[in-house]
Order: sequence, then structure tokens, then C-alpha cells
Amino acid sequence: MDDKKFYITTPIFYANAELHLGHTYTLVLSDVLARYHRSIGDATFFLTGSDEHGDKIVRAAQKEGVGPQAFVNKNVESSKKLMEKLEISHDFFIRTSDKEAHWPGAQKLWRELEAAGDIYKGTYQGLYCVGCEAFITEKELVDGKCPQHDTAPEQIKEENYFFRLSKYADEMKRLLESGELKITPRTRTNEMLALFGGEGHENTLSDISISRPEGAIPWGIPVPNDHTQLMYVWCDALSNYISALGYGREDDILFKTFWPAEVQVLGKDILRFHALLWPALLLSAKLPPPKELLVHGFVNSGGKKMSKSLGNVLDPHEFLDEYGVDALRYYLTREVSPTEDWDLTREKFKEVYNANLANGLGNLVSRTLKMSEQYFAGRVTGDMASVPPVHTRITEAAVLGDLAGLTIPYIITNEILPRYHAHMRAHEIHKAADAIWDLIGSLDQFIADYEPFKLVKTDKDAAERVLWGVLYGLHEIAGMLTPMMPNAAAKINLLVSVSPEEAGGLVFVTKVPESPLFMRKE
Ligand code: MSP
Repeated sequence: MDDKKFYITTPIFYANAELHLGHTYTLVLSDVLARYHRSIGDATFFLTGSDEHGDKIVRAAQKEGVGPQAFVNKNVESSKKLMEKLEISHDFFIRTSDKEAHWPGAQKLWRELEAAGDIYKGTYQGLYCVGCEAFITEKELVDGKCPQHDTAPEQIKEENYFFRLSKYADEMKRLLESGELKITPRTRTNEMLALFGGEGHENTLSDISISRPEGAIPWGIPVPNDHTQLMYVWCDALSNYISALGYGREDDILFKTFWPAEVQVLGKDILRFHALLWPALLLSAKLPPPKELLVHGFVNSGGKKMSKSLGNVLDPHEFLDEYGVDALRYYLTREVSPTEDWDLTREKFKEVYNANLANGLGNLVSRTLKMSEQYFAGRVTGDMASVPPVHTRITEAAVLGDLAGLTIPYIITNEILPRYHAHMRAHEIHKAADAIWDLIGSLDQFIADYEPFKLVKTDKDAAERVLWGVLYGLHEIAGMLTPMMPNAAAKINLLVSVSPEEAGGLVFVTKVPESPLFMRKE
């Protein structure tokens, strides 16, 4: 379809602990988009990885009584295992402690900033939040604590290198206002624009410190030509998006092909770094900024952001082991709005699982395949033109409205698929999934209208035309489900295969599954 490129990234995850459901959300959202773009023929590169330097890591390693490298290795191992279980289809996993894959790019970026005259030495005195790995101002504190981590920041005074962020204020503002650097949702652009200002000028940004003395945190990438300093962990981390493509290495063909990124996915807590610092670093290095930042909300637990430091994390393995990968991916794709915060509870998960997977999709698949087997020995012949129209006004599927008189193939081609694609392209994966479940609702209605299990006794041909319509729908559902539930989609494709018929029609060859796709949970 499209022969475009699509470079998508997740933030790199701190390797200080196991990934929880919040991180899982970032991963699944990105993976659905990557798989969708592959499915429409875009040359896709999907990057994820781990953020392994800095104070936070060193302290966590010390707590466990191991060196930082051994410590991050262990966490990275378990992140990779989780990603495998989640069927994350990344093309590369970058690690910031990787001296071959990452360091050359990070150091080249530094040298470019230096060459542009944007780095100078200064003294930093102020507050630092280790949880954020960022300097924080008095104004941002709530009751003397960082509101995100609920911990008091540390007072530090040190010699650092600074980056002339101030120099890029005008250009940054222009990029944001013009939408050249698009932030989705749009309201987040305004939030970022509100950060420009101070000292009576409405268009300023303050310079920021981009290194730390080696003595303070002996775990990071040395500043080129000054090994008494290490690169500030956010500067190190952000450069992963280009180092992973070979920037700064001899073989930089991927970089030349894929940068700038089409979409960088991130949670709202780290937007500032991505919307202000990152594009400014790129401008200084004479590289184009990413095209879009897709910002998602928080997965809450007990009303607060799920986070290790708050101790309210839910373990994705628990859901994977109990319900399977399809169910977890389903939930994260359809049951939440990407741009808002939402609370996950075990009760809600089970309720939705039973209603929409065990009943909705699972039930439709199993009864259709049983009818196909029982009445037509697993071979149903037909074509689009002979499928009878839906009778009943579909009131449940409010978005679809009145379908009376329309056929299933017509509804799919003119309603469902256009909606599905439009939402996927707009990264509204929950709405794309709604289109699929509207089709499931329509197929249920269609079966209720014609009752093929009764019709088969009086008019077998008519029953076959009805069943063919349902199988056609299932086949389309499998296609649309592929990005969000690749495993379930593959199963449906195995159960409902298509072989062309000489007369121009299609034969659906079906099998009855040995066990239901989604076992009901009591
Ligand atoms: N290492 C930095 C990112 C550097 S990118 C150059 C970092 N890591 S993180 O592990 O804390 O977070 C990684 C991603 O997970 C972020 O997008 C973050 O917003 C997301 N989430 C972490 N907890 C989350 C929730 N409770 N809910 C939703 N997303 C959350 O930040």
C-alpha cells in the first residue's frame, strides 16, 4: 500500500528494576503501531532498550551489593524475557552501557554540540531528584518533596558543563507552534509552550547542566576530551534514538534511512525532556527533530501513578500467566484511552475479559466454526454478492447506526475498514479496536437475524450464504486484529483459511479448535 518509512521508538527503560504494567503499556502501544505500519507495507524500524547509567542505577545496585554492570545485566535479561512474552516485535534493543552500539553516537552528539559552541563550563548549585534524574526547582516541590517520587531532593553544588538551551528558544517555539514538531495530544503542546518564559521575557529557556563530575556518579559515558566528567544521564539516554541507528559509527545506513523518527512514544512524565531538551540537542547537532511525540497518560494503581518508588506496581506476568498475552494486549489496546490516566484493577480486567474475549470474540469464533463443521463439513462456499443483508437495526453498536439493508461485506468495506485505518493512522488504537468489536457485534446480530442453525433445515443454500458472510467477517477480523493480538489473529487464520474457487467465489475451509480461544474465568 504505502512505501513509506516508519521509525518508532519507546523510551528506554531504567534498568533499576523489573518492568511493571506502566512500562508494559508504553511497549504494547508502540508495538501495535509498529505492527500496523508493517502490515500496511511501511518500511518499519521499531526501537526499544534500556537506560543503564546514572545515580539511580548505582544506588539500586549498591543496595543489592553488586556492581552496576552485573545489576543492569540481570534487569535487562528479565525485561527482554517480558518483551518476548508480550510479543513485542522490536527490531533492536539498545543498551546505554553498550560501548560499541551506543557510546560512539552519544559522544559524537556531544562533539557536535561542542563544535556548535553550545557547551560551556559552569557551576551548578541547586536541587537534584534522583528519581527523575533531573535538577528540580523549589517551585516544583510539593511539601518539600518531588511530587512524582514523593522524596526530598538533594542539594548539590558542582562543576558541570552546560548546554546553551537558551540559544534554541525561538526555534523550539516555532517548531512547537507550527506543529513541525507535533505533540499528540495537542493540549500537551500548550503545556510545553507554557514553560517558555521567565525574567520578563516570554520566549526564553534556561541553559541546563549536561554533565556530572565523575566522582559524583562513577557510572556513565565520559565526556569527550574531559574524563573528569560524565555525560548527564538524560543527554546520554536521549541519544539512544540515533545511536541505535548507527549515528557516530561507520555503518550509519540505518540512521540515514530512518532518522527523523515518525513517532516517539513516551509517558507524560518525561515529556519535557523529549519536547524541549531533545529537539534542542538535535538542532545544535544540525539534525532534524522527530516528527511526532505521542504522549500517553499513567497507568494508576489505587489512584496513584504505578511506580516502583511508590510501591504500588502490578506485575504484567501475573496477567500474562493467568489470562495469556492476547488478553493483556487486548486490554491495553482497547480498554484504555492512550492519552488519559486510567486505573487498572483485577476485577475490571476479569469482567472485560469475560465480556469481550470469552463471550464476544471467542464465542463468535467457536459457534461459527461449529456450524461450519456440523452443516458443511468445514467447507463453506460463496461470494460477497450473495451474502444477504442485515435485517435488524443495530442499536448496541451506536457508532454504526442503522445497518438494516446493508450486507456484511458492504459494512466492512465502507464502515469498518475505513474507520479502523483512520484511527490506526491517528494512533488511536482503542478506537481502531472499537471498529473491530463493532463488527463482532454486527456479526452476532446477523446470526440472530437469520438463525442459520434453523435455516439450514429449510434452506441449506441460504444458510450457507449466511455462514459465508460470517466467515468473511471473521477473516477480516483476523486481519485487523493482527497488530493488537498477533497470536489470536494467527489462531483464527489457522481455523478459517481461504481458498479461491474457480467460479470467482471463495471457499472458507474451517477447523473446530480443540479448546476455546478464551476460556471463561469464573
Ligand atoms: N529512562 C527514562 C527514559 C529515557 S528515554 C530517552 C525513563 N524510564 S522509565 O523506566 O521510568 O519509564 C519508561 C517509560 O515508562 C516512560 O514512558 C514512562 O512514562 C513509562 N511509565 C512508567 N510508569 C508508568 C505508569 N505507571 N504508567 C504509564 N507509563 C509509565 O523515564
